[in-house]
Amino acid sequence: MELTKRPRRLRGSENLRKMVRETRMDKSSLMYPMFVMEGENKEEEIPSMTGQYRYSLDRLPYKLEQLAKAGVGSVMFFGIPDHKDEVGSGAYDPEGIVQRALRVAKEKFPKLYYVTDVCMCEYTSHGHCGVLCGHDVDNDKTLDLLAKTALSHVEAGADMVAPSDMMDGRVAAIRQCLDKAGHYTTPIMSYAVKYASAFYGPFREAADSAPSFGDRKSYQMDPHNSREGLKEALADVEEGADIIMVKPALAYQDMIWQVKEATNVPVAAYSVSGEYAMVKAAAANGWIDEERIVGEMATGAFRSGAQIYLTYYAELLAKLMDEGRIG
Ligand code: PBG
Repeated sequence: MELTKRPRRLRGSENLRKMVRETRMDKSSLMYPMFVMEGENKEEEIPSMTGQYRYSLDRLPYKLEQLAKAGVGSVMFFGIPDHKDEVGSGAYDPEGIVQRALRVAKEKFPKLYYVTDVCMCEYTSHGHCGVLCGHDVDNDKTLDLLAKTALSHVEAGADMVAPSDMMDGRVAAIRQCLDKAGHYTTPIMSYAVKYASAFYGPFREAADSAPSFGDRKSYQMDPHNSREGLKEALADVEEGADIIMVKPALAYQDMIWQVKEATNVPVAAYSVSGEYAMVKAAAANGWIDEERIVGEMATGAFRSGAQIYLTYYAELLAKLMDEGRIG
């Protein structure tokens, strides 16, 4: 055999494999999504997301401390309000659940980096991501409310805002509103490439935010499309988005790669609730090796081009990185 190319030469030992690794990961890239709720002394497990909880504000600091100790650099807050109405007023209430969570978090753990999800669906009685006009979401009327929501988050201490509603023009509306109030330096991470996905099922249970009629297909993207994802990403960069997110991560790795190639901003990938639930369920049955699967999913997202990885498995990934099992 006259084989000059023998790829196996570089796979001969752990030291060598680590030396030639193409993808390097770091704990500072991990962002942990968290649900905050009203009430006291509550840490409610989410039935379809074993190991994930909704925290009342008095319980929040314990979890933040754990995350900080594990070396997870940032968290993303989702609010679960007590009160919902037609116009989602809890989203932009200065005393709303996320706004209060931010104040608690910034006071107790100012070292962590706080991002907020900006959307209406957890706060509207109909569960859609904006205000309705008949049976559809009114895009332009919703923009004002999203901008108001983002501003109230920043005023309560958010380091970054992340609109996830998929209305057209929301990044521009939020940027203008923040700038007008003097918050020029607060970045916007846009959920630009967000698909209408069944992978959000467990989240909607966690946040009690499933639409009461219809679906989200008139604003979230059709999973068959990739060029449309680039259109969304480029439009949002044009409007001032500082970071572009692709969501979900697992079934949309091609989009992580394409957005990285097509833009010059950092790319975030969100491994969503359904991805977590699938792994947990299979692991609970003993059908897969949970830690290796979680490591592989994260590696795939980073290899595809993500710089930021949002995952309910952030703490486990931090541990795997510490142990040198990935990264
Ligand atoms: C709010 C929002 C959703 C998710 C993040 N922000 C739900 C949705 O769009 O239906 C899903 C996150 C997850 O599934 O983990 N619009």
